[in-house]
Parts: sequence; structure tokens; C-alpha cells
Amino acid sequence: MNPFQYGAELKPSQMVNRKSEIRDVTRALMEHGRVFLLGPRRFGKTAILRAASAAAERQGAIVIRLDAEAYPGVDGLVRALVLESARKLKSDVTQTGEKILRFFSRLRPVISYDAAGNSWSASLHAPPAAGADQTPMFIEAIDGLARLAAAARQPTAIAIDEFQKVIELGGETTEAQIRAAMQRHTALGFILAGSKTTLLNDMTLNPARPFYRLGIRHFLGPLPREEFVHFITRGFEGGHYRVEARAVQDILDLAQDVPYNVQALSSVAWELLGEEGGDALTAKLILRALKLLVERDGPFYLTVWNGLTTVQQRVLAAAVHQRGVAMTSGSVTQKYRVSASTMSKTLKFLENREILRREEQKDSFRWRLEDPFFAAWLRD
Ligand SMILES: Nc1ncnc2c1ncn2[C@@H]1O[C@H](COP(=O)(O)OP(=O)(O)O)[C@@H](O)[C@H]1O
Ligand SMILES: [Mg+2]
Repeated sequence: MNPFQYGAELKPSQMVNRKSEIRDVTRALMEHGRVFLLGPRRFGKTAILRAASAAAERQGAIVIRLDAEAYPGVDGLVRALVLESARKLKSDVTQTGEKILRFFSRLRPVISYDAAGNSWSASLHAPPAAGADQTPMFIEAIDGLARLAAAARQPTAIAIDEFQKVIELGGETTEAQIRAAMQRHTALGFILAGSKTTLLNDMTLNPARPFYRLGIRHFLGPLPREEFVHFITRGFEGGHYRVEARAVQDILDLAQDVPYNVQALSSVAWELLGEEGGDALTAKLILRALKLLVERDGPFYLTVWNGLTTVQQRVLAAAVHQRGVAMTSGSVTQKYRVSASTMSKTLKFLENREILRREEQKDSFRWRLEDPFFAAWLRD
């Protein structure tokens, strides 16, 4: 069994570190607290939400966990919220239907149960017109969930993953309305996770913005290297492979400590060892695993690259070759033939497109690719 998983559910034993995050999120789910989980994509936000939700549910909580990016509009998210509520109510079919109608009466949901497939489906009786402000409907759904929480006598909480999407869909007023709902419903737990860190930092850290100081904030950085080294080494040794210490460091370097990429590289290296009957994890093997991964995603990288203007391409190449440091300095802007202001604007554009991310350091910051293997592809 391949001990390295990426893009799949991690078992608790497969989670490296993140104990305090899981503990705080679990507690908030149990005790109607509020936690913001902020971090770049691929750093393990969803894994934390999943682990904490499972722990809270084992202790009797009702957790409505939703990924805001899974729906093209707020109405889809609201429908999912109502549906999840129906699924989580442990009562018989008719009762569930009645309760859902009562809690979410203003949304006038029409829900039905398919006994054969043991599944619920829902539609909203009065969906808003296209282009209309959908935030009130979302707030109404939160209010309905709070009514459910009051009736349930079990700790009840909502966890929204990729929360920035809700704000992007709803606009500035959405922030204030959600904050007001969070203040109103003290018996409902709220966990909001998001990857647009600039937006969310500003939302939660800027005194002028509605979410300022509303709850605990966790910023997800990379996993501590020693712990990840231990996890990777133990994983390969468990398959009776000899492990070169250098090779494990190479995995972390090439993956730039991004948990998803670390696991992907480890996983493909494991597969190669199995296929080839190898007996040792070596630096050479890691390079071949990287090549496979970069080739596999090559068509995707090419599409992204071709979708950029030549200026954007130059700035992206500059970020890779300069390691994202001092990008607006005279020497860098001259070398890549863009003005400092175009450089800044383009970096922000690439950040917004989630191609680049800004990594804060003690007294400075640097630009890194969200997907370090894209950088490897660009270097080729
Ligand atoms: N704590 C962790 N320990 C080990 N691997 C992790 C951890 N967190 C994340 N990963 C790896 O990163 C992948 C992406 O995690 P995910 O939670 O989906 O990130 P995000 O939601 O922040 O985009 C996981 O599938 C796993 O391979
Ligand atoms: Mg996620």
C-alpha cells in the first residue's frame, strides 16, 4: 500500500503535525466558536476541516461542511446547505422533511427523499432572478441553520471551505451581512477556511473590515521539515526500502515544502520503486519521479502558459529565475524589460489567477509558484 496520498482523504495517522489547528477547529465545532483557517492552496486546509469535522461528529456534533468553490453561484451553495442539513438530521423521513421546511421556511425548499438511493434532493421554491443579489438568501440559510441548532440540542456548526468564493460572488456587503449573522447566532459554530490569503488577511486583520477580530485565526505555513522528513522516511522504510537522507531533502526542496507536492513526489517515487523492483530511495530516483509528474501535467501547464500575454509570461519567468525576490528592483525590471509598475501590477494579476503566491518572510517577502512543479516545467 502506497503510504503517500495526495488529493485523497488523509487518515488521522497520515496527518503530519497540524495538531493545534485540528484541536481548535474541533473545539469550535463543539462549542460554537469561530475559527478562520487561512493558507495557500495545497497546504492542508481541507484535510484539517475533514479531520476536525470527523472528530466533532464522533462526539455528537452536527457539522455542515461545504466547499464554496463546488458551486457556480450562491443558490447552489444554499441548496447544498439545506440538503446537508436534511442528511445530518437523525430523524425519520417524514419528520426530516417537516423539520427542514420549518427551519428554512422562507427559502421554501422543496425536498424529496429517494428511498432506493437513500438520498435527499432539494430545490428552492423561490430562487432569485439571475443577476439579483443572492446574499440575502445565503443569510436566510444561515438563519435557518441557527434555528436547527437551537432545536437540535446537539452542538451544530457550519464549516465553509474556500470561503473567499462567497465574498467574491456576493461582493462587499456580503462581508458585513455574514459578520452580523455570526454575531447574532451565538449558538452556531462557524469555521471559515480560505486560500485567497491577501483577501482574507485583509478581511480578518484590517480593523476597517467587518471580520476583524471575530475569532481565532490560524495561518497555515509549510509543515515542519523534521516532521515531514520523519514521515517520508518512515513511509519508505515501511516498504523495506533503504532511504538516502539526501533524497528526502530533495523531495522537500523540489516540492518547495508544499504538502501536496511533497506527497505527490513521494507517491510517484514509491510507484517507481515498486514497478522497477528498486531497493533504495535515491536522489536520482526523485529526479525521475519529478520528470514524470511534470510531464503528466505538461498539457495543463502549456494551456495556462499560452493563456498569458507575453508580458505576463516574462514576469512569470522572472519570478522563477529570480526566485521571486526583489522583483521590482531596477536590475530585475531592466533584465526582463518591464517597468516597475507593470511588474507590480502583473505580479498581482498572477497572484489573483492563483499562479503565484506571496510568501511573507521576516522582513521581506518573495513570490513563489502555487504549484512548484509548474516552476520545474518552466525551467526546462
Ligand atoms: N498535515 C498533512 N500531513 C501530510 N500531508 C498533508 C497534510 N496536509 C496536507 N497534506 C497533503 O496535501 C494535500 C492537499 O491538502 P488539502 O487539505 O486538500 O489542501 P488545501 O485544502 O489547503 O488545498 C493532501 O491531499 C496531502 O497529500
Ligand atoms: Mg481545499
